[in-house]
Amino acid sequence: MYTLNLNQMTQQEFLDEYWQKKPVVIRQGFKDFVDPIAPDELAGLAMEEQIESRLVHKKDGQWQAAFGPFDSYEHLGTQDWSLVVQALDNFSEEAAEIIEPFRFIPHWRLDDIMASFAMPGGSVGPHIDNYDTFICQGSGKRHWRVGNNGEHVEFAAHEALLHVEAFESIIDVELETGDILYIPPGFPHEGISLDTSMSFSVGFRGNSAVSVLSAFADHLIDNEKGSQLLTDPDRQVVSHSGEVSNNDYASIKSQVQNLLDDDASFKAFTGQFLTAAKHDLDTLLPDEPFEMEEVSNLLNSHAIKRLGGLRAFYFEDTIEQGLCYINGTELQFSSDIANGVKLLCDNVMLTPNAMSEWSHNVAFVELATELLNQGYWYLAEAE
Ligand code: SIN
Ligand code: CO
Repeated sequence: MYTLNLNQMTQQEFLDEYWQKKPVVIRQGFKDFVDPIAPDELAGLAMEEQIESRLVHKKDGQWQAAFGPFDSYEHLGTQDWSLVVQALDNFSEEAAEIIEPFRFIPHWRLDDIMASFAMPGGSVGPHIDNYDTFICQGSGKRHWRVGNNGEHVEFAAHEALLHVEAFESIIDVELETGDILYIPPGFPHEGISLDTSMSFSVGFRGNSAVSVLSAFADHLIDNEKGSQLLTDPDRQVVSHSGEVSNNDYASIKSQVQNLLDDDASFKAFTGQFLTAAKHDLDTLLPDEPFEMEEVSNLLNSHAIKRLGGLRAFYFEDTIEQGLCYINGTELQFSSDIANGVKLLCDNVMLTPNAMSEWSHNVAFVELATELLNQGYWYLAEAE
């Protein structure tokens, strides 16, 4: 279990002072931090097809970058390279634990945990992210510089590597094991490993309006909605055929606006959009499907855990109507079990104690059976 220590700051003070505003170093944010995964295990994951990884190194002073999977690392030597693995929370239960202390930020904002292993001198180079990132220093030390936000020129240092031109630092520190560097989007930064080191970045994303609109358009097409043509049966004669009248512009705009104003439809899309997995899930289906009676007993004897990287959310105002969203799909359930479904969405692990009110509720057990059979939840250790 990782406990976040904000050094006398409350979580709300952190949000008020730094979140989305300015970078900050939180010394010993994780006291007694132990890497959740060893470098060779990380290197092994980056050899797998379904895992997104990247190697960055310098050859004859030139930046080089390659996407995984990788066959070997031997040609890279013992310095000036780093390996980055995305969505580690999908593949390592231990690494996913690092997310837990950040639950004071709603998890629809969470992106993933990225792990980075670096040899001395290793770095991905100076760059800007679109993410809020908490870079948690694991074993070893790294030198980090962060510049101010504002105008910065970005360029491709390699076809797979977007860098930023030299910047003046507003933070210039050595991070040691357990230190955390928080960087909001738009602040240029560069970390260079001082020895063999590991870091774990918890990233939070904000979607751009264009990405939401584009996904909404796909959703409308998939659901055969929004294809009605504009109609104008009350058309009046015009004397300026080249003009788009204010009324005509207003009706074109309201054609689009009406789609957004249909809250039931836009909310269903948003729930599916926010819970869609960006990276492959490491789903493990049970050998035999569970039966409801068995699940009722198991909820009494075992904790259940949510699959790493699985996204499950509900809306404040529609959960009581029996709607939630899990892994890109809208789920309907009896509104009587809304509080049980909130527990599933708010917590990664639920003990028999937490489930005592629900383990004999037929509607809840039915839902839990479906989720266990889909491999979205699984049985954790026996009590
Ligand atoms: C790294 O840890 O190598 C890169 C992390 C980052 O800059 O976001
Ligand atoms: Co970065």
